[in-house]
Amino acid sequence: MTRLQHFGWFLARGFGPHGWGTDAWEWNHRWTRPELYQESARVLEQAGFDLLIIEDAPSLGSADTIDLRVRHAFGGPKHDPLLLAPYLFAATQHLGVVPTVNPAAYLPYTAARQFATLQHLSEDRLGLNVVTDTGSARHFGAAPPLGHDAAYDRAEEWLGGVRDLWRSWDEGALVEDVASGRYADGTRMRPVAHRGEYFAFDGPLNAVPFEHDEPAIVSPGGSGRGLAFAGANSDVQLALSPLDEASITAYRARIHQAALERGRSPEDVTILFAVQPVLVDSPEEADRLVAASRHPDEETLRTIARRQSSDLETDLTALDLDAPLDLAIFADHVSHGSIRRLVGDHDAATPLRTILAAHARAGRLSDGSGFVGTADEFADLIERLAAWGNDGVLLWGDLHPVTVHRMLDRVVPILRRRGLLREEFVSGGLKANLSAF
Ligand SMILES: Cc1cc2nc3c(=O)[nH]c(=O)nc-3n(C[C@H](O)[C@H](O)[C@H](O)COP(=O)(O)O)c2cc1C
Repeated sequence: MTRLQHFGWFLARGFGPHGWGTDAWEWNHRWTRPELYQESARVLEQAGFDLLIIEDAPSLGSADTIDLRVRHAFGGPKHDPLLLAPYLFAATQHLGVVPTVNPAAYLPYTAARQFATLQHLSEDRLGLNVVTDTGSARHFGAAPPLGHDAAYDRAEEWLGGVRDLWRSWDEGALVEDVASGRYADGTRMRPVAHRGEYFAFDGPLNAVPFEHDEPAIVSPGGSGRGLAFAGANSDVQLALSPLDEASITAYRARIHQAALERGRSPEDVTILFAVQPVLVDSPEEADRLVAASRHPDEETLRTIARRQSSDLETDLTALDLDAPLDLAIFADHVSHGSIRRLVGDHDAATPLRTILAAHARAGRLSDGSGFVGTADEFADLIERLAAWGNDGVLLWGDLHPVTVHRMLDRVVPILRRRGLLREEFVSGGLKANLSAF
């Protein structure tokens, strides 16, 4: 059995002001230009990573709270990751590039055509992180936002339609026979007449068929409906879960079951568990960092409050840290799941300071309580996951070269020596590399 694991990088906070709020900003990289991302994409490829996923949200959220979102650049601005992808393909040869796309924002024909074009341009290295966020609905028409499960239903219809368009050229439709002067055979093209619940459109697609394979579909939803979507459609599932054996095994079993229920094989879905290592030089330094995290300073608490204010579209920075948090301050549209994640197990009398401090708390890689540890301890974690049958992991961060090198410089040689990280890529693009082991 191979020990090799797949590695992905999740460009959190999307195609936005990278380095803002950290000293890395002083490097004067221009986040609106491609060079910053190209430099790091080359490093990820050299490190043997399969794919780079670019987070996105097309909206700055509710009109009343835009300042909270942009003030510290937590919720925007964000440029369109689909348009960054060609620059990253041009800078690399093997790396898969996976912009996030929301079906609400693209008509199926436009989507099929643009993604087909990128798949050809990149020699089969495109992936699509399909998300179903409904908060941005008002930017794409007057219809009210769909409910949670209906948004997944629409995403499945959209993807089915996109795939029908990709498959609208039958075997032999592309002739390219110079001797007979025939480029294509229109009688072998399927008309595609889609009349569904959410979309109506005709084909066939005017882009030529793929040389190897369709773009890889990636999905991050963790609800029952989200896992069913992954089982039915995804080549890669991004998983948020505790990293103990029971949780990992249970999560994988749910995806595999969902795949089987939709007539697919468990091996069709590569599951990547999210990990966010904070790498340090020694176990003693890890202990120091973890101990210090129990007593966060005011600046750390303020940064957490700012980030939460952006995510929750509610200004926590103006509140008294030593008073209990009144849940009535959250408007109706704020996600209940996000409020629960903020508050955790604390009761109504808990001061805001304690709630925020819990978010500063770090744990050790070595005892499974968190992600602070040495490169060797990180490799131990990857090795444990591999022994439980895991497919791979997803590292989080911005794509600033400072972040990428801090994470990878020491860890890559150790993972290679232990046979956990690929030495080379196979030909055939992203899907071929995902299924190579
Ligand atoms: C690793 C990971 C990455 C995600 N990336 C995005 C993203 O880029 N854009 C987005 O709108 N939602 C993103 N999400 C959120 C999911 O798409 C989804 O909205 C959320 O998980 C709720 O769906 P669920 O109810 O099925 O879990 C991400 C979630 C995870 C775990």
